[in-house]
Amino acid sequence: MSGPAAAHDPRTAARLTERLAELATISTPGPGVSRLAFGPLERAAHERVAGWGSKDGARVEVDAAGNTVMVYAEGEPYLLIGSHLDSVPAGGRYDGAAGVVAALEVARAVAPELGLGLRVVAFSAEEGARFGRPCLGSELATGASPDGLLDVLRDTDGRTAIEVARESGLDPTGCVAWAAEPAVAAFVELHIEQGRVLEREGVRLGVVDVVAGATRLAVELTGRPEHSGTTPMDGRLDALTAMAEVVLAVEATGRATRHGVATVGHLEVVPNSATTVPGAVRAVVDVRDIDAGRQATAVADVRAAIAAIAAARGIGATIAVLADRPPVMLSAWARRALAEACTARGLPFRVLPSGAGHDAAVLALTAPAAILFVPTPQGRSHSPDEQCDVVDLAVACEVMALALRRLDATARGLAAEET
Ligand code: GLV
Ligand code: MN
Ligand code: MN
Repeated sequence: MSGPAAAHDPRTAARLTERLAELATISTPGPGVSRLAFGPLERAAHERVAGWGSKDGARVEVDAAGNTVMVYAEGEPYLLIGSHLDSVPAGGRYDGAAGVVAALEVARAVAPELGLGLRVVAFSAEEGARFGRPCLGSELATGASPDGLLDVLRDTDGRTAIEVARESGLDPTGCVAWAAEPAVAAFVELHIEQGRVLEREGVRLGVVDVVAGATRLAVELTGRPEHSGTTPMDGRLDALTAMAEVVLAVEATGRATRHGVATVGHLEVVPNSATTVPGAVRAVVDVRDIDAGRQATAVADVRAAIAAIAAARGIGATIAVLADRPPVMLSAWARRALAEACTARGLPFRVLPSGAGHDAAVLALTAPAAILFVPTPQGRSHSPDEQCDVVDLAVACEVMALALRRLDATARGLAAEET
């Protein structure tokens, strides 16, 4: 990748490498990293990171939703930095974790210099992979979580989010919202891009302007389970062949928009037996766009396709909304601090949207929030093949540190500064 070789502290790069490798061992066996939302391995990763924070002298607080906060400089308002520590099944070691370990580096470096307080956060349950809905920890921390939601969301074992969280010693319903203005002056998240824009353009830093909205639909098609050897092809009510049409309709919807995407990444076949015509199939449809109108249109198109396919095949269909978030514009003030920090360091950066969801998009509803991206080789993420150049991360730490100094100065000194 081109671009000037930026200054970074090699000790930071070494520590980042070591800590990311250590966190990657906290995983169920198998390819990549599997550290699912609200599970015991997520908790173990939070404890490991809290230990690193304590060693730095930070005071550690864990809220009832399992969000771990490390207070590097006391006082309110404070700047908040961090990301998440859970992963998708068979994910990579950088998604979320890179932003948390980088935040520890940044906090240690800048905490003594700031007038505002400074806290590092590891949010719990960011990935929507387990329960269908993402950012459960940051939603609870900001007070944005709908009542009773965690009793309804289930994983593929049929366990509710609240059951899983309680088994891990958490009590999310008792979470008191804390992540909001005026206590939080700004939230800045460092994250891998998870796409190919930075790599393609040979730029090592990205400042996110908008985070795509996401609608997740739990779709269940119900047919008639019966003997695959004796039931004639005519007159079957096969829920799987109907779902196959739905999957293709979802793909066609995604293809029909220029910036949107639509995916079926999860299917459950009931009874999932080689010798039974499938009686029911459950799927999760994920529709995303950086434009709210197009997102809504794509969701309406998917709903219409499901209704038409089910009617044509005599199949029952139900659709439940697991999550429905519009795109979020991030704070102009906080973004400018990141952009100015890149410029001050002589580092080219690209302003770009994020197709992936992030805790920063939830925080943006209650406080100024911004995201700094580093490149993801080949854009491979949510995969064991996920990579990240640790030098990029170390350089991004320098940029973050400078951006925090600017946010600190403007938040304290310039009341008229645009936020
Ligand atoms: C989070 O990684 C997402 O699925 O956007
Ligand atoms: Mn992430
Ligand atoms: Mn992710």
